[in-house]
Amino acid sequence: MGSKKKHTPKSADKPKGQQNGQSRHSDNGLKTEKKGSPPTSAQSKGQQRDKSSSCSKIWLLVAFLSVMTVGIAVVVVSPSAQSAFVTTYKTYGHEYMLQAAEYLSLDVSEFDKWIMGLTSGDQPQGANSEDPSTQTQKASPTEPRHDVQKDDGQIKNVENGSSGSTQHIQTKSVETSSGTQQESSVQKDVGIRQSNSERHDKANSVVDASSEKPIVQDIKVTTSGGDKATDSLEKDVKPLKTPRDSYAKSSITNNDDYIIRKSLDDADSLLERGVLDEALKKYDTIIATHPASPRAHSGKADTLDKMAEKQRSNELLEQSINMYSQLLNFAHVPDDLMKTTARRLADRQQFRGWGQQSAKTMKFLVDRFPDDIALQRELGVSYLMAGQNAEAKQVFSKILERYQTDGFAMVHLGFIYQTSDNDPATAIPLLQAGIESDAPGTQDGRFYFHLGSALQRQGRMAEAHKLYERGANKGLFLSADQRSLYNVNTLTGRPWWTVEQTGYQRYIKLLEDNWQVIREEGLSQLNSETGDFRPEDENLRETGEWKQLTLYAQGRKRSKICAKVPKTCGLIDQIEPANSCRRGQVKFSVMHPGVHVWPHCGPTNCRIRAHLGLVVPEGPRIRVINETRTWQEGKFILFDDSFEHEVWHDGKSVRMVLIVDFWHPELTELQRQSLTPI
Ligand code: LMR
Ligand code: MN
Repeated sequence: MGSKKKHTPKSADKPKGQQNGQSRHSDNGLKTEKKGSPPTSAQSKGQQRDKSSSCSKIWLLVAFLSVMTVGIAVVVVSPSAQSAFVTTYKTYGHEYMLQAAEYLSLDVSEFDKWIMGLTSGDQPQGANSEDPSTQTQKASPTEPRHDVQKDDGQIKNVENGSSGSTQHIQTKSVETSSGTQQESSVQKDVGIRQSNSERHDKANSVVDASSEKPIVQDIKVTTSGGDKATDSLEKDVKPLKTPRDSYAKSSITNNDDYIIRKSLDDADSLLERGVLDEALKKYDTIIATHPASPRAHSGKADTLDKMAEKQRSNELLEQSINMYSQLLNFAHVPDDLMKTTARRLADRQQFRGWGQQSAKTMKFLVDRFPDDIALQRELGVSYLMAGQNAEAKQVFSKILERYQTDGFAMVHLGFIYQTSDNDPATAIPLLQAGIESDAPGTQDGRFYFHLGSALQRQGRMAEAHKLYERGANKGLFLSADQRSLYNVNTLTGRPWWTVEQTGYQRYIKLLEDNWQVIREEGLSQLNSETGDFRPEDENLRETGEWKQLTLYAQGRKRSKICAKVPKTCGLIDQIEPANSCRRGQVKFSVMHPGVHVWPHCGPTNCRIRAHLGLVVPEGPRIRVINETRTWQEGKFILFDDSFEHEVWHDGKSVRMVLIVDFWHPELTELQRQSLTPI
């Protein structure tokens, strides 16, 4: 069984079917472009509009313009006629007014302001049409709900992880995961890492109506109350597509931002073209006059974020994180913008190393959109990444209470049962069903890896092997026997190595020549009262006592420990391919009689694991694939621990070895420097 730490695929090992994130704007831009998202009622309306014949459109426009021109004239001349105008305005909608104004070459934003002033405290139907919550309010109970999922809660549209869960649009009583944010004692890295962009893709938002839209909502309710005249007009008129509908960034633009959209678009374009200083200035200028503009704030945060990336500056990154955070507290942030912003914030917090903050951000988002299952999945992953396994478990369990067939939740929950709880019996059916669902995010080596491991621990060897074959055929493993998840695919893989095959003869000799010195230091620590040996904590053992004292990890020397075993570390300091091996460790390993280490694979094929026998009684043995060997005092055995191996100690006294991981000899210097540490 792999260690939690070790078996952590990085972004390079992305699950199939998930791609890198889209840009913020394409993510936000048009709901209709979102794969798998059910159309909102706004969209279906838009489609209806498209279908209206151009003939009737022209007729309508002419008729409408006449009405409007007369309306404006009357209003200007006679203030008492304003209320009549407002009624007309309400009937036809804000957007038509704007369209007409555009048609007449009026200054649209001035006109817009004037209209807004005239109708202040009121909101015509059709305004804020990107707001899903208001769409929900508008929808009549008999109107076909295009956004409703028709079956019994099964997850549809899973291609991008969107769930089509909007059938629950008005169910506000859904419990959200527990708010407890206590520090978890569970090991931090449990092998779940996903870039935020992956999560974005998986979780492409579904429309939901959970956010509060205080101003608009009430009015919508009253205007949708079945005013017959309005209804028949709406039916007959087949309204034209409004400029607002066709505005590409409609879904991230609130009413106030819509008025200043030109400036915002200009700033966005600077940002997209990478003219960051100018973009920043432009956003600042907008913010100076529109301090509550959500888009200006998000644009500025994006700009700072890009600058941080370019300049590799944590200070800028933190400024951008601050800016994103502020936006969460703004009023009238369109749902799409809120989701994108909070997701980006969570990703940046994660990147900054603030995993728990990141999970809190996702929790905020889930509380705000409790019916958005994609967000719940992301929250579960965030908890896992923050090492908050108990919270993650709760989130995935809750998803499954409501969506019994959610494959994504199943594999993750199974993963937790296997790796954290050491409960293969519970893990197996979850992992199996999750993998069989073939849902996005489920065809990942980690889940095959841990399902196989759970099966092996239940003695179901043939099933495990079949699964490993399947994983290998899918390209998730190098082979059924070599199941590391961080690999350089070109490297020679063989279970057992000779010293000559490694080319590291001189280093091997140096250590073998000094094996007794090394043994003395190891034993001194084993017997010391303050002993720094730590029990193996990677859930690899079936039985027995197994302790390790780590001197180097991820290419870094542990100076405090080395001070206690200076001669050994002095030797390792002379062995560059070992002391620089960022995908390995150097450690004393002590096994007591009675140990059985489950069959398992290491995390990477980038290292050769060398064991120097220090204290070797009769009894212990190690199997790598189909060849079992034992140790000899003062001698090395070398193997590639990415292949399946298993250890037993049937002897009567402790066995101690020094484990030294060397870079795989075929890795180039550049590769050694650029590979991520494990
Ligand atoms: C392993 O690396 O899994 C074991 O072989 C370690 C040990 O001490 O034998
Ligand atoms: Mn091992």
